[in-house]
Amino acid sequence: MTHRTIVAPHIVIAVDGPAAAGKGTLSRRLADHYGLRHLDTGLTYRATARALAERGLPLDDEDVAARIAAELDLSDLDRSVLSAHEIGEAASKVAVMPKVRKALVEAQRSFALVPPGAVLDGRDIGTVVCPDALVKFYVTASPETRARRRHDEILGNGGNADLAEILADIERRDARDTGRTDSPLRPASDAHLLDTTEMGIEAAFEAARNLVDTALER
Ligand code: C5P
Repeated sequence: MTHRTIVAPHIVIAVDGPAAAGKGTLSRRLADHYGLRHLDTGLTYRATARALAERGLPLDDEDVAARIAAELDLSDLDRSVLSAHEIGEAASKVAVMPKVRKALVEAQRSFALVPPGAVLDGRDIGTVVCPDALVKFYVTASPETRARRRHDEILGNGGNADLAEILADIERRDARDTGRTDSPLRPASDAHLLDTTEMGIEAAFEAARNLVDTALER
């Protein structure tokens, strides 16, 4: 008698896009739906920046930043302590350093390799971290829509925020992320584009789910 072992497929889904486009919500929904692990890779850059600040280390020393990045524990990333605006700014500065990216990409790839697979969201998942992902999405929305969403979110959490400042911050961060030489933010050639300006995040999830189901059937 022959035994056939049925091996569940290893699934990796890549979700990229600029800040506040809705990729976090979409990624969490996809991870829940397919029973996959989820990694918000932005947190790895944020945690590196925060660890440097906490230890009083400079933000502009690439070797020091890369050493801190290599020591990160991915199981200990908490968005609530890493969400501050200044940490996001500092994160996008350490994210231009190739040695920091190399250390973090290595950790992100190891995360993606653990069965049954994962949804990773960030800026370079489909292009650099997981170029062989089963499905890739590039989630975007107009800067104004993204600024309004971030603004509403801060107010909803009882905070204070200025819409014009948030918009300026988003545009500055977009420029830094798309303009850097190492792994700039751009859609992978085989990514599905999801523009959440009009469709909203729920409709984006439905569209993404259909595309993943189709890929799984192949
Ligand atoms: O997504 P989030 O706003 O938390 O990311 C913070 C910063 O980390 C981004 O502005 C970007 O510079 C950097 N980042 C990156 N590559 C990723 C994820 C985030 O360069 N895969």
